[in-house]
Amino acid sequence: MRKLVAGNWKMNGTGTSLAELEALKNSLAQSACDILVCPPATLIARAHWAIKGAFPLGGQDCSSKTSGAFTGDISAAMLKDAGAASVILGHSERRQYHGETDAQVAEKAKAAWAAGLTTIICVGESDGERQANKQNSICHGQITGSVPKGATAANTAIAYEPVWAIGTGKTPTNDEIVQMHAHLRSCLTESLGEGAKGMRILYGGSVNPSNAEQILNLAEVDGALVGGASLKAADFLKIIAAVRPH
Ligand code: 13P
Repeated sequence: MRKLVAGNWKMNGTGTSLAELEALKNSLAQSACDILVCPPATLIARAHWAIKGAFPLGGQDCSSKTSGAFTGDISAAMLKDAGAASVILGHSERRQYHGETDAQVAEKAKAAWAAGLTTIICVGESDGERQANKQNSICHGQITGSVPKGATAANTAIAYEPVWAIGTGKTPTNDEIVQMHAHLRSCLTESLGEGAKGMRILYGGSVNPSNAEQILNLAEVDGALVGGASLKAADFLKIIAAVRPH
């Protein structure tokens, strides 16, 4: 399976940031992995024109509703229309700051598929949960609750993002990543059966040019979801280049 290196710009970027996407486009030689960039929704359409299909773009959230009186929300069809191919769902920042539940994430995933988007569904334990050694049961619950039946390798990737590793410069050890990815693989098989086959499981949380090679080349890691280090093309390109061809 080809690995996927995805960038999540979060709430960063205005028109001037499109230069980073153009730099990315111009430097993408024959990379050994697939690439996705998820800028803020306001930039998707302009980014789509700027990069002329050099790599796919994604949103960072969508509504579970198709249209109507939902002020401020963005539907999956709107993201698709703006040029997105994918959408990140259930990111811990959405769960934490917007109170998103597993059930809501699952509804959003179904809406995204119906609009023709693929999804990256995020799971991950908090610091306290890891201290209490509850990471496996927390992530099991999130997979069961947030990933609807009907998820396949073609429409969904999972991102394991331990909350304590996001934006902190801390990462789990290689062993901890391998153990969790194997655990998530078995949770997916338990809940989706054959559908889980070949589904990518990405790692996210403080991936940067210095640790990318070590993390991205673990056999159990099918790619990365990169926050801060995806904002500058030079850093993101180093992470992309860290994926060894196989
Ligand atoms: P950082 O790479 O900035 O730690 O963010 C990770 C993340 O949340 C990606 O979705």
